[in-house]
Order: sequence, then C-alpha cells, then structure tokens
Amino acid sequence: MPVSPTLITASTESHMQSHQHSQPLRRQIAEWKQQGDVIAFVPTMGNLHAGHLSLVELAQRQADNVRVVVSIFVNPMQFGENEDFDTYPRTLEEDVDKLEQMNVDMLYIPDTGEIYPEGLDAATRVQPPPVLADVLEGEFRPGFFTGVATVVARLFNTVQPDIACFGEKDYQQLLVIRRMAADLAMPVRILCAPITREADGLAMSSRNRYLDTAQRRQAARLSHCLQQLVAAIRQGAGRERALENAIKSLEKDGFSVDYVVIRRQSDLREPQAGDLRLVALAAVWLGKTRLIDNIVFEINRL
Ligand code: PAJ
Repeated sequence: MPVSPTLITASTESHMQSHQHSQPLRRQIAEWKQQGDVIAFVPTMGNLHAGHLSLVELAQRQADNVRVVVSIFVNPMQFGENEDFDTYPRTLEEDVDKLEQMNVDMLYIPDTGEIYPEGLDAATRVQPPPVLADVLEGEFRPGFFTGVATVVARLFNTVQPDIACFGEKDYQQLLVIRRMAADLAMPVRILCAPITREADGLAMSSRNRYLDTAQRRQAARLSHCLQQLVAAIRQGAGRERALENAIKSLEKDGFSVDYVVIRRQSDLREPQAGDLRLVALAAVWLGKTRLIDNIVFEINRL
C-alpha cells in the first residue's frame, strides 16, 4: 500500500532539543564542538516570522557541519517603563513548530531568573559607547542598547557560538553588537541578513501585529517613502531638502515621526564629503505602534 504524504510528515520526528537551563545546553554544545561542529546562534524574542527564519537559513548556510541554536527570550532589560513588555506577542507553540520545520538543532528558552539570577536591577550591565548607543533609537529609547548588549553578551557566554546572525532590520542594533563583540574581544563572527519585507514593502516585525487593518495598509508607506528619499539623494538632491520632504510626506500619511536621517553605514555619524556608503533610517508612530525601517545604499559622490 502506498504511504500517504501526510503519514510521512506525521511520522517525521523533530530532532530539535529544547532547553530552559544553561547546564544541559552547555554540555551538548561542548559535545558538538568536540566533534568539530560549527555553532551558529540566532538570538530572538520569539513571535517568529520570515525575517527571523531568514537568519536561521543564513546560519545553516555557513557550514555542512553547522549546529544552529536559536534563543527566544523577551528581555525585560531592553524595554522602557512605558513600552510594550507586557503585551509583546508570545507565541511559543507556533515558534517551536516553525523551528522544528526548519530543522533547527537547539532552542534555548530561558526565563528571567535564568538570565538575571540576582534580579534585573542587580545585574551587571554592558554599556555600549554613547556615540553609537545614545543616538537615534537610543535617544528615543534610553537604556535600550544597554539592555540589548547585556542580554546578548550573556547569551553569547552561555551558547559560546562561533557565528551569530542578526538582521539589518535593526541596523543600529547590528552595529552595537559588532562593536561590543570587537571591544570585548568576543570570539564570535557576527553575520547579518537583509531586511525581509511583506509583499507591499513593509519590513516584517513582531510589532506589525499591533496594527489594525487600516493602519496595516498605511504602514507600507514608510518603506515607499524611504525608497523615494534614497532615490532623490542618489539623483543628487540636497540632503536637507530631501529629508524635509520625506518627513512632510510621512506626516501627511498620518505617521508621527521620531526621526528620518541619512547616516554613514559604518558608524551612523553624519556623512562627510567623500562618504559613499550610506543608510537612510526612520522611526515613526502609527497610532500606538512604533515602526522602524532603513535602506542601505551607495552614492557616487555626496
Ligand atoms: P527580535 O526583534 O525578535 O529580532 C531577532 C533578530 O531578527 C534580530 O537580529 C532582528 O534584526 C532580526 N529581524 C527582525 N525582523 C527582521 C526582518 N524583517 N528581516 C530580517 N531580520 C529581521 O532584535 C531582537 O529580537 C532583540 O533585540 C535581541 C537581539 C534578541 C536581544 O534581545
């Protein structure tokens, strides 16, 4: 009798290990390392979408003998007092299904006590340099990058990955992590993946869930507006004027703008004559939902 495909699927066992505590996780990772496997790590806060999964794929492409470890931890230290820690979407069952389907080797799902054993306030913190961490996102979300750097440092020390993957969606976060790894001589290679977008251009994000139907339709305008801004700059338009137009057009579309800027890709400082590798970054509000997006681009001259 021919075996139906559903039966095959149903009988396929997942090999993904899941750990809430670091000890068994470290033992397994040490074993993998001993047999010569490469450990690639993808830290997340869960509510996984195609953007997260593109990082898993990037990790899997790095070697034949790669072991991919994903963490899910909604990190209280990186949320401000009036931010959405309590309402942040937690969808563990669906996340586990997605990771099993992707053949991820290990999931680490610590609780807060595991990550901050002495409590949040008593924890040692990793403070990234203010030039990088107190601008843009850091200006509007004070302490955010200390929270991110602290948890990622802790996760790196637990997982001890050879490689770690981050998304360009959070461009400033990527630079902060690279800088932390370099400054603290962490033996990990940081890789990045481009932004995964919805069909209409909206950058995928767990926070897109907060948008109602009308807002969701409107949200795509953010990426369109950034595209227009980049096109204008590449065609030689003055930066100030182009930025003013972008802000005006976003406001006309119903966004409330935290910032729209053009910066250098390397360090997020204001571009100087001769800087050709640039990034347009924006953060806006649509009702009570905060959205960020960016486009990296190059010009021939400034
Ligand atoms: P989270 O928002 O869950 O994102 C986890 C990773 O997925 C980050 O590296 C992020 O840049 C990437 N990502 C999110 N949306 C993406 C998209 N549309 N395309 C490509 N990559 C995308 O970022 C965090 O969690 C946290 O700050 C964390 C690093 C886990 C520390 O708590």
